[in-house]
Amino acid sequence: MMRTITTLTEGWRFLKAAVPAETALNWAARGEEVTLPHTWNAVDGQDGGNDYHRGTCWYVRELTEEECAGERLFLEVNGAAMTAEVWLNGEKLARHEGGYSTFRVELTGKLREKNILAISVNNEDNTVVYPQKADFTFYGGLYRTVNLISVPAEHFELLKDGTPGIKVTPVVDLEKKTATVTVETWHNGKSVDITVNGETRTVEKTAVFTIENVHLWDGAEDPYLYTAEARLPSGDAIRTRFGCRVFACDPEKGFFLNGRSYPLRGVSRHQDLKGKGNALSYEDHAADMAIIRELGANTLRLAHYQHAQEFYDLCDENGIVVWAEIPYITMHMSGGRQNTLDQMRELITQCYNHPCIAVWGLSNEITAASAVNEELLENHRALNELCHRMDPTRLTTMADVFMLEIDSPILEIPDINSYNLYFGWYLGELEQTDEFFDEYHDKYPDRVIGFSEYGADANPAFHSSRPEKGDYTEEYQALYHEHMLKMIQARPYLWATHVWNLFDFAADGRDEGGKHGENQKGLVTFDRSLRKDAFYLYKAAWNKTEPFAHLCGKRYVNRCEEETEIKVYSNQPEVRLYVDGTLIGTQRGETVFRFRIPLLGEHLIRAEAEGCSDTMCIRRGSEPDESYIFNKAAASVTNWFDADDVDPSCFSVSDTLGEIRSNPQAGAIVDAMMARGASERGDVADAVKDNPALQRMMGRMTMLSLLKQGGADEESIKQLNRILQGIKK
Ligand code: GCU
Repeated sequence: MMRTITTLTEGWRFLKAAVPAETALNWAARGEEVTLPHTWNAVDGQDGGNDYHRGTCWYVRELTEEECAGERLFLEVNGAAMTAEVWLNGEKLARHEGGYSTFRVELTGKLREKNILAISVNNEDNTVVYPQKADFTFYGGLYRTVNLISVPAEHFELLKDGTPGIKVTPVVDLEKKTATVTVETWHNGKSVDITVNGETRTVEKTAVFTIENVHLWDGAEDPYLYTAEARLPSGDAIRTRFGCRVFACDPEKGFFLNGRSYPLRGVSRHQDLKGKGNALSYEDHAADMAIIRELGANTLRLAHYQHAQEFYDLCDENGIVVWAEIPYITMHMSGGRQNTLDQMRELITQCYNHPCIAVWGLSNEITAASAVNEELLENHRALNELCHRMDPTRLTTMADVFMLEIDSPILEIPDINSYNLYFGWYLGELEQTDEFFDEYHDKYPDRVIGFSEYGADANPAFHSSRPEKGDYTEEYQALYHEHMLKMIQARPYLWATHVWNLFDFAADGRDEGGKHGENQKGLVTFDRSLRKDAFYLYKAAWNKTEPFAHLCGKRYVNRCEEETEIKVYSNQPEVRLYVDGTLIGTQRGETVFRFRIPLLGEHLIRAEAEGCSDTMCIRRGSEPDESYIFNKAAASVTNWFDADDVDPSCFSVSDTLGEIRSNPQAGAIVDAMMARGASERGDVADAVKDNPALQRMMGRMTMLSLLKQGGADEESIKQLNRILQGIKK
């Protein structure tokens, strides 16, 4: 008898009430009718205020007789964030801690005439289940599918760590063009038929196949997938796809796929969407993948947790190389060690067969709010050993925060590393990114290093002809990424680079850039309706199939200037620019094409390249268009402070921290101010104080930029400036 899988979409009652199970059952009839997938934070988790509902809620549903048919019945929950308990007819059957993996529980033997299923889900702060501190909304709910799986008495394993019951390990010999494919199965029968590539073997548990003239899984160009099937005499059958490929990393030459250089250049993705929270449909996942294919990315960092099986499947099918990770993030918790191991064990058990996955990520910026002590190191060593024990075929990595000293012992634990750097956005200047990697690579030429996060927020409503760090304009984000793209292209040793982020996403605690509750570093807006200019920069660099020319600045219509820059991103070698129908210039080049034109009135701009074109309309404005300026207060801070107000023979906030500190009196004043600021920021400041690399970095920054980064208000900046102006250089 074949297994049957029933998806429990309809018929759920939702209770937003932290009540005992018995009460939940009694109140169920008064609960809100919902369908799955569902999150209770679809709205309040995305509107700012850091006030989204975090608590215990209940999902209650009666199971029909038909749904409960079969010899053995299992419940499968594919995503319950963050901790769930499963109750059947008033009896607690299971508890699961971790919001991103599949878990199953057997219902057989607990069934009655009438069967009421109740699942409680909790997304409250706690000290044992990751994530607890991070820059994204911890949505609560049954946000992926919930299924009933009915199988014969003789069936494949369903309970252990949410296993698929089958594990496929292809080992490719590129020289011989063969693959040795080991298929392991878990079941309670005596024998199993395993079929690979048309060949069937009857074995106890495991079979090894050889594929001659193997068709490789060769990235986006040719993501060929084989299928392994396993069938028991009872009729229970399962199948999984797999891919035959070879991944390798070289400290000097970066990433290799199937023996050829294959620099991983791509983006990150969170699993949420404007208006839906993280309760995504297959169509939502597929729509995101279509955008990733349009961009031309060949890799994805699926941050900061285990994503839906459907999405790893899409990456397999589209040849996208994936960095998979667990949410061991920002702040280490002494009580969370077992949870990190549980989440990693489930991630690997459930995702092992996906050919797209190249690395397992141990943690993200875990030293941002925690010291690098023995407990932290041991937790990482335990995770690293678990990964290697469960999966000798893949490398481990971790995403390091910018202030982590490059000679920290933690960097020696994973096989390879990557850094999250935001110079030119949160702090410092763009060029410090180049300096960082050159310093790291010079000091550690035998270590593989990557660029796991970088980005700048942009609200498509804000524009400027003089874009600058912190103005949230589309133009600054584009300039930022133009710099990073060149920096990356000049450093082939970077094994992978991942733009943070492909999509704007929900961080309910944020309130900046004119948006509440959103991180706007996306190349595409949260609702996927708009691709920002920077999207087309990477499309021009990475997508070599679909000819296009993109006029930047379409939303920057009113321009209060006599002449203006017209920038075009294109994957074609030559771009022609027309203004009001007249050809004004032709440029040959690569990716970025810049023109300057006089602004006399309203103009129709047209860019043409081989097989493609783009148009926009802009006009000479008589006044600066205030609607393009964000953060007028901060802008005024920048504007009010002109150099001619300052006596250059004395110190001022325009001097760098290093220059000011060269004078003991001036240095003591700013150190006192920084110490006061640091105490407000909590323990992160310690990481700054004890971090020579960061001190060097900050020493090169002007006091004004440091104060603005730290959110200092105009008055306190003016006050410090007056004090410094009283000290002769
Ligand atoms: C960090 C972190 C991300 C966060 C990003 C940002 O590097 O890893 O989760 O969203 O910075 O500040 O935008």
